[in-house]
Amino acid sequence: MLNKKMTDALNGQINKEIFSAYLYLSMSAYSSFIGLKGFANWFMVQYHEEMEHAMKIYNYIDEQGEQVKLMAIEQPPTEFVSALDMFEKTLEHEKFITKSIHDLVDLAIEEKDHATNIFLQWFVTEQIEEEGNDNDIIAKLKLVGEGGNGLFMIDRELESRVYTPPAKDSED
Ligand code: FEO
Repeated sequence: MLNKKMTDALNGQINKEIFSAYLYLSMSAYSSFIGLKGFANWFMVQYHEEMEHAMKIYNYIDEQGEQVKLMAIEQPPTEFVSALDMFEKTLEHEKFITKSIHDLVDLAIEEKDHATNIFLQWFVTEQIEEEGNDNDIIAKLKLVGEGGNGLFMIDRELESRVYTPPAKDSED
């Protein structure tokens, strides 16, 4: 059972996850446009993962017998300075999402909503991985500097990332 406060907060998180998807789709488009196809692939995989996060929450609200309410999605930025700029913005955004997830956990504890608290633990762990991935790529980009062979090598590496859709059971 979800109370109204928790339902509203989870609906708000769906909006943030879909905005994340939109932001990374925009970064994918920009990367492809400037010829960084590996970066474009990495951000496209990230787009799919964010939609998966949104749907996890969507399915949870629905299963609990409450109504999913979709809201307007803000326009993402469309211009970026460099590959490093995109990843610094990605990390900054993920820190904002981490804070939002932690606020949801705090609310679940306050509301004595044990089921939602357990449900959210997956997201707490996922955020550690997301920030870790971004930090790794930022470190590499700083190491090689902008442009040249180093950037090309990182682009090749990011081309190998593959999106694995969740198994049906873990989707909800
Ligand atoms: Fe769904 Fe990147 O947080």
